[in-house]
Amino acid sequence: MIEEAAKLIAHSRFLIAFTGAGISAESGIPTFRDRGGLWENYRVEEVATPEAFKRNPRLVWEFYKMRMKRMKEAKPNKAHLALAELERMGLLKAVITQNIDNLHREAGNKNVIELHGNIYRVKCTGCAYTENLLESGRIEEFLKEEDLPKCSECGSLLRPDVVWFGEPLPQEALQKAFKLAERADVCLVIGTSGQVFPAAYIPYIVKDNKGYVIEINVKESGITPIADIFLKGPAGEVMETLLAKVKRCLKDKGC
Ligand code: OAD
Ligand code: ZN
Repeated sequence: MIEEAAKLIAHSRFLIAFTGAGISAESGIPTFRDRGGLWENYRVEEVATPEAFKRNPRLVWEFYKMRMKRMKEAKPNKAHLALAELERMGLLKAVITQNIDNLHREAGNKNVIELHGNIYRVKCTGCAYTENLLESGRIEEFLKEEDLPKCSECGSLLRPDVVWFGEPLPQEALQKAFKLAERADVCLVIGTSGQVFPAAYIPYIVKDNKGYVIEINVKESGITPIADIFLKGPAGEVMETLLAKVKRCLKDKGC
């Protein structure tokens, strides 16, 4: 199975990856729907909807600051690093991620499409102001501040620049992702339950356009029924082996 996957990747013309929380699990970031996942300990409607933010911005900001702190401590794992290597090798054309943890960029991937936003970005609820707290170097100060964060331009409340339930996805990112999926002849789907749409359409679009879907997950997901190859196991381990086999395949002309 893994040999076949390596062969498909080595011979691919336009490889893309579609990732979810499971790819960051080995970096110590909890997923959402697994045992011990975030949605077991928090109610979505209390921390991740526009209504929740209107009702109780303090609670929502507490939740996102907690996640920001956790993600700041996390480092890319072998799965992120393997994807960065595949991009450097010229094979991987883009990573489309549902994750907000920034780990694909930290691993070195250049073409990353974030469908659900980024934990380090904030945006104003009153004007067009946005800020990336990593780039502005304000993250420590921001995390320490106990008052609600306010816009430096207009004084309105700032919010996390992430997608909440009931909100549309950033249209430009979504359109780009759909176009990439149409072009892809191979798509690696890593660590997603495939339950949240429209993001989860990505592998379906690949299939509709006659591309192959290779899935990596510790257990079967919503995507598994349409996967051509299912590689069961933790993302870091599987990706490390897969990358080694792709490299061997490229060296070995017979592959
Ligand atoms: P989920 O928590 O729904 O699914 C995580 C998936 O990762 C599951 O299929 C697990 O089996 C798998 N998994 C866990 N550990 C793994 C490992 N070490 N290696 C490989 N796979 C592993 O997370 P997502 O599918 O990313 O949206 O969730 C999609 C969206 O729902 C998120 O982006 C978020 C969430 O609510 C928003 O916040 C808008
Ligand atoms: Zn403002």
